[in-house]
Amino acid sequence: MSVEERLIIAIDGPAGVGKTTVARELAEVLNIHHIDTGAMYRAFAYYVMKIGLSPERDGDCGEVLKNFQMEYLPEINSYKIIVNGEEVSDKIRTREVTKGSSDVAVFPAVRKFMVNIQRELGNRYDLVMEGRDIGTNVFPDTPFKFYLDARIEARVERRLLQDGLEITDECIKREFSNIITRDKNDMEREFAPLRVADDAIIIDTTNLTRDEVVEKILKVVREK
Ligand code: DC
Repeated sequence: MSVEERLIIAIDGPAGVGKTTVARELAEVLNIHHIDTGAMYRAFAYYVMKIGLSPERDGDCGEVLKNFQMEYLPEINSYKIIVNGEEVSDKIRTREVTKGSSDVAVFPAVRKFMVNIQRELGNRYDLVMEGRDIGTNVFPDTPFKFYLDARIEARVERRLLQDGLEITDECIKREFSNIITRDKNDMEREFAPLRVADDAIIIDTTNLTRDEVVEKILKVVREK
């Protein structure tokens, strides 16, 4: 089966809009795989830091990428990411890796590496793929493109809850600033920046539950 015949649902949007919870549920309902592409950039940032380099400065160093091997193994309701033989799935959610993932994502060679893996997965499986450039760059021909957005206050709160952090004034302030910096980085980079694809359906998730967002997407998918 070629990628044109596959069911590929692209979900893009900034941090904290609920992409992961929505994509996971959608994949479960449709019985297809969920691919979290942010986890791939995170895995690379983790590796760069592990070998003592800086994601911001050294992320595009050819030698680093040449020695980097990554396997993304989709599983029912979850996935594993293996970097040079080490399972890193549980190690890529720290604050340092979060920042580093946005830093390495600006480099064209890094993006090319990740996009190859993402397209390869699209050749093999029907899937819901979430990220920043899935509808604009990875699978521009899929008819199913969704862009999730939400008010910044809601995104900050979701992010803190997701990370199991207390919702204190100090945490809120810090997360506000983290999210704004990351949005800026992701939207203003030169290669494959975060933007709404011309034919994407925009869903504002600020006042919607996960199930309401999933329902909206399913309706579109079932009607086409
Ligand atoms: O979705 P996330 O927060 O786990 O993503 C981490 C970073 O990876 C994000 O700040 C930007 C980058 N990213 C990207 O550039 N392109 C993607 N398709 C997915 C993530």
